[in-house]
Amino acid sequence: MSHAAAPRPAPGPRPAGSRLELRGVSQGYLRRGALRTVLDAVDLALEPGAFVALTGASGAGKTTVLELAAGLQRPVAGRVLLDGADLGALDDARLAELRLTRVGMLFQHHDLIPTLNAAENVALPLLLAGAQRHAALARAERLVERLGIAGRGAELPAELSLGERQRLCVARALVNEPRLLLADEPTAGLDSVAADEVMRLLSELVDEAGLTVLLATHDVRAAAYADRAFRLSGGRLEPA
Ligand SMILES: Nc1ncnc2c1ncn2[C@@H]1O[C@H](COP(=O)(O)OP(=O)(O)OP(=O)(O)O)[C@@H](O)[C@H]1O
Ligand SMILES: [Mg+2]
Repeated sequence: MSHAAAPRPAPGPRPAGSRLELRGVSQGYLRRGALRTVLDAVDLALEPGAFVALTGASGAGKTTVLELAAGLQRPVAGRVLLDGADLGALDDARLAELRLTRVGMLFQHHDLIPTLNAAENVALPLLLAGAQRHAALARAERLVERLGIAGRGAELPAELSLGERQRLCVARALVNEPRLLLADEPTAGLDSVAADEVMRLLSELVDEAGLTVLLATHDVRAAAYADRAFRLSGGRLEPA
């Protein structure tokens, strides 16, 4: 079955989000000599600017889909296309460059670097991409301000609440102005107030930027921010 998600209406000109396509993508792992299928010929197409949620039980394969979309895993069958480019045809260096320049990632486990302060954590992707330290930190500080944690840029992650840390992760995922955001359980571990705050900020920022978003979540309230939701079950994708 093929699933296509429509783009959201774009007020005024803005940079286009990426187009992401999974065509007949299967993924599996060898366990005790037998192949265990996680994804079974999944088709999914996100038009530029689409905001799609992926739900499903733990172990259903949500993180697997996001990692395939980021080129962090290669499928055993099928193709993953980002703006028409087949990720399977790219070498690791090219995939790393693509992630740095075009893809923003929010990981399932908060992974701020504990010895870097808040602003430095947010600026890290810019610094890795070769930006000047001063300009990178200034941009990070502006984003941090937008996220309602102004003046906290010099603090270490351990000095911030879980919700504040997750807002930093949102800022870090967006600091390079990516065209595709892959968000894996961005509200995990947060209470409903903090989760709503993270999702509200995330959807405001992606709306402004015209990004394409693929969000994996157990949280029905988080999934409601998306334009469309699909559910992974038994390796197949179905409308949620
Ligand atoms: N490196 C690996 N080796 C073997 N099996 C793996 C590996 N990575 C993932 N799996 C298996 O693939 C299946 C899907 O995992 P995945 O992490 O994509 O699920 P998920 O939907 O993200 O779950 P959760 O909601 O718990 O995050 C699981 O059964 C998992 O054990
Ligand atoms: Mg997962």
